[in-house]
Amino acid sequence: MTNNIVCEKLGIKYPIIQGPMAFISSDERLVTAVSNAGGLGVLAVAFGPVERAIQIIRKTKAGTDKPFGVAIMPFIPTTPQLLDAIIGEKVPVAYISTHPRLFDNVPGFVERLKGAGVTVMAKACAVSEAITFDKLGIDFIVAKGYDGGGHVYSLTGSLVLIPQVVDAVSTPVIGASGIGDGRGIAAALMLGAKGAEIGSRFILANESPAHENFKKAIIEAKETDTVITGLCTGEACRQLKNKLSERLLKMEKELPEEEAIKEIMTISMGSLFKGAVEGEIQDQGAVLVGQVSGLLNKRQSVQEIMDELVSEYTELLRNAPKLLE
Ligand SMILES: Cc1cc2nc3c(=O)[nH]c(=O)nc-3n(C[C@H](O)[C@H](O)[C@H](O)COP(=O)(O)O)c2cc1C
Repeated sequence: MTNNIVCEKLGIKYPIIQGPMAFISSDERLVTAVSNAGGLGVLAVAFGPVERAIQIIRKTKAGTDKPFGVAIMPFIPTTPQLLDAIIGEKVPVAYISTHPRLFDNVPGFVERLKGAGVTVMAKACAVSEAITFDKLGIDFIVAKGYDGGGHVYSLTGSLVLIPQVVDAVSTPVIGASGIGDGRGIAAALMLGAKGAEIGSRFILANESPAHENFKKAIIEAKETDTVITGLCTGEACRQLKNKLSERLLKMEKELPEEEAIKEIMTISMGSLFKGAVEGEIQDQGAVLVGQVSGLLNKRQSVQEIMDELVSEYTELLRNAPKLLE
């Protein structure tokens, strides 16, 4: 797609972004595979030490000569150093992950990154967040609905969020959440997005380091098997139902709010590591995944996933005029 602004500006072949995923895209394996296959891989290294992030960025550069991104979370105290690393290592794209405490420092960050020639994209879960980013002059806004995996900062589904964000901002939009195949990409483009972000499907890729138990649970899950936990904490999270999620929901319902927030934050901390890295997916570990899990049922290489996505959405869009005959 040569006249697609996402491809043109990011220097990628297909307008497909791999959403940053803690412990899934926290090293170079998945990210280099996505970038080498013509999408944009995005590293999730903001939580660890900056020295480790620099090592991973260098390994990523060694593994691909294609553009890739690094996600930043501006509320994390080490963000200024991570920014130095992104600029110093000439990382092509910085990706601002959405977060309620996000806006404290964003304006200065965006100016620094843009001044250094870094393309900046940011994830918004609500129209109001998207409008804030629009005013900052960033390059792309990712509109993420509540159907997607991971943190959920609004309760609006992507089918309704994407066109509302498109209408509200002048920055080009990338649609996210619930996109599991070429139909989802074609739909996002029809809703006015210029590209699509995919998280959950890439967890199943051969190159994804997620624990085998974590992948198997996603393959077996139906669309009704996810829940949103921790709504009272402001850091709600979509994950598979298991004993951990049951406990978290019970606390939210039964404990006084302040106590519930404290307990839920304590228990949730480290739960993705237990699930995704250690493979404990019943009692202590969380399996973060979107409602699209019901569509995800096969193990493939990133190249196979990308080939399938691209042939599906191009075929659908090519044949779309027939729907009007
Ligand atoms: C296991 C997992 C971890 C995630 N971690 C992050 C993260 O660290 N930062 C972030 O901005 N988004 C994170 N996300 C959200 C994804 O980047 C992406 O927006 C989302 O997965 C898209 O929806 P989908 O799962 O329906 O494809 C995570 C999602 C999952 C499933």
